[in-house]
Amino acid sequence: MKRHIASLVVFLAAAPLWAASGETVLQERCAQCHDLTGPAPSTLEELWTRKGPDLFYAGVKYKPEWMERWLQNPSRIRPAGMFYGKHVRTGPDGQDVIDVASLVEHPRLSPGEAEAVTRVLMAKKATPAPVQEGAYQPGRISLRMGELMFDKFKGCLACHQIEPDYGGLSGPEVYTVTERLREDFLVAYLRDPQAFDPKIFMPNKKLKERDIQKFIHYFRALAQEVKP
Ligand code: HEC
Ligand code: HEC
Repeated sequence: MKRHIASLVVFLAAAPLWAASGETVLQERCAQCHDLTGPAPSTLEELWTRKGPDLFYAGVKYKPEWMERWLQNPSRIRPAGMFYGKHVRTGPDGQDVIDVASLVEHPRLSPGEAEAVTRVLMAKKATPAPVQEGAYQPGRISLRMGELMFDKFKGCLACHQIEPDYGGLSGPEVYTVTERLREDFLVAYLRDPQAFDPKIFMPNKKLKERDIQKFIHYFRALAQEVKP
């Protein structure tokens, strides 16, 4: 019995320390590139000099399982980094070429650090615009129809890749987006990207609610199809 009480005391004493260490890692190793408090950039200059995605509403945006995994083994999501204009050169035929040497590797965390940091980030819910629980209703769309919408009808492919090395370079790849981001967040973001990030150059295409749902069906189907 005594032993149980002793281990309980040790556990309770260690818990806050452990929680604090996620906060410490964030302050010491992440805050120089990520905004942890908000608000999002309100001028173009702030947008251009932003070094990493905003994390002050991470808890409404990201899937925690993905985040914990990615922080231990980060891979590139935005093919031309952040901000892409700094990492793209014009190639010999006038096409965009990524200056790979100018891209930096993302810091890598240990499993314990990744768990602690994810826990702290998931508590950050200062969302700039409402995200409605249950807004996404699972459904299906064929890859062919999805691609037609994404490319020909709405022109999204100009900025986003739908498989490695296929699509535009200025936005994040979308074939992993539903592994990374919560679907309910995606509904709100696709409805009005500037509500979350006032200066972002993703156009607001005034998508119909039905098309927003279809795009998310498409991203989920892509994630199944394209395993990078
Ligand atoms: C040198 C700047 C820099 C530092 C330091 C840094 N990051 Fe990042 N982070 C980035 C960039 C740039 C991206 C975008 C990567 C991409 O798109 O490929 C990113 C992406 C992320 C993402 C994915 C977000 C998204 O929307 O794609 C998470 C989560 C993240 N960082 C967390 C952290 C944590 C936690 C730390 C501290 C341990 C940290 N970062 C330290 C620059 C940094
Ligand atoms: C002019 C380029 C451009 C076009 C066209 C564009 N986007 Fe984007 N998109 C972006 C940028 C830039 C971001 C924000 C990236 C960031 O947060 O770093 C973004 C973000 C997104 C995200 C969130 C991705 C993430 O990982 O954070 C999704 C989903 C998305 N766009 C879908 C679409 C769809 C659907 C269309 C067509 C209706 C579209 N985009 C058209 C540039 C574009």
